[in-house]
Amino acid sequence: MASPRFPGADIAARVAACVSLADLRSLAEQAIERTAWDYYRSGAWDEATLAANEERWRRFEIHYRGMVDVSQRSGRTVLFGREIPCPLLAAPTAMQRMAHPDGECATARACGAAGLPMCLSSLSTTALEEVRAATDGPLWMQVYISKDRGFTRSLIERADAAGVEAFAVTCDTPVWGVRDRDMRNGFRVPDGLRIVNLERPGGPTGHAGVGIGGALSWTIDDTLTWRDVEALAGWTKRPVLVKGICRPDDARAAIGSGARGVWISNHGGRQLDGAPATADVLGACAAEARGRAAVVVDGGVRRGTDIVRALALGADAVAVGRPILWGLGAGGELGVRRALDMLRTEFELALALAGVRNCDEIRAL
Ligand code: FNR
Ligand code: LAC
Repeated sequence: MASPRFPGADIAARVAACVSLADLRSLAEQAIERTAWDYYRSGAWDEATLAANEERWRRFEIHYRGMVDVSQRSGRTVLFGREIPCPLLAAPTAMQRMAHPDGECATARACGAAGLPMCLSSLSTTALEEVRAATDGPLWMQVYISKDRGFTRSLIERADAAGVEAFAVTCDTPVWGVRDRDMRNGFRVPDGLRIVNLERPGGPTGHAGVGIGGALSWTIDDTLTWRDVEALAGWTKRPVLVKGICRPDDARAAIGSGARGVWISNHGGRQLDGAPATADVLGACAAEARGRAAVVVDGGVRRGTDIVRALALGADAVAVGRPILWGLGAGGELGVRRALDMLRTEFELALALAGVRNCDEIRAL
């Protein structure tokens, strides 16, 4: 389907002309309605963590090896028993139909075509079964443990039955972070879009109120503890990851609560402003999890070289949030394909330039 602001024929050419994620970002900025764009781009308060996420990867130099035969190289890796061609996945981001009418299904198709996992947000604007039907690729789902535990349990059971392969429970959201632009803009879930997986018979639609907090307060809970993660891990046999970890003792607690994955993240700088950049805490958290749980990291990953850095610091895979939205806004499925392809191509080039042939060799850099 055509992007709302660009005529169909133009899109492929515009997307193809992009050489970096920054180019896709510029295209998306023109295509996406402004209050939605502000929602996507924002971090909490002064956006210090948002900025640090991008900046701090660059602090890690890659001490490449010379004179290695890198002609046979591959980024292949295995995550929860599934082989994927590159240690990359789409992080969950809410309300993707604001970026493009095809929304979450376009992301699912693009990830599926690349053989990479998509993690669907529980705040998606498309029913999870519809997203599952859009791809044969690995599909994960992010969940917030809501005040209504029975509802969250039934959502997990529903997703499990639909064939969702792993669940990421977000732990950095006891309350919603405040994004000043959304407050100024009076951001609301746009008319015509529904947070469809979180609708309860007789319950609030959750669409009223300004800001993400006003709109969706019942979907999170400020009483959560590790015991709730333990309970959730008992509701499914699929792997559970805890998303939003920034400290080794929390990585340990997550694993102790039954998590098979720890997802180092600060929600893209959208929750606690002042939280450390993920690049700075990844090493210590990964050391805690090594051999016991898979380690995923996100936040500010914008180049294939950042994926190399993340693996060298102990990650098993890297997730990207905003870059997917940039691709989606710029050109729907085609744009997301381009974003993923850029990251994968850059990553494979970076492998060669670093003198390593596979993910294991990066860890020994
Ligand atoms: C998010 N993120 C997020 N996380 C989550 O657990 N559930 C969600 O619904 C959302 N929604 C969401 C919306 C938007 C617009 C953004 C930008 C982010 C956080 C996301 O999964 C991820 O942690 C960050 O986006 C990673 O940082 P980068 O790649 O955007 O820098
Ligand atoms: C956000 C929520 C939806 O970051 O996770 O806006």
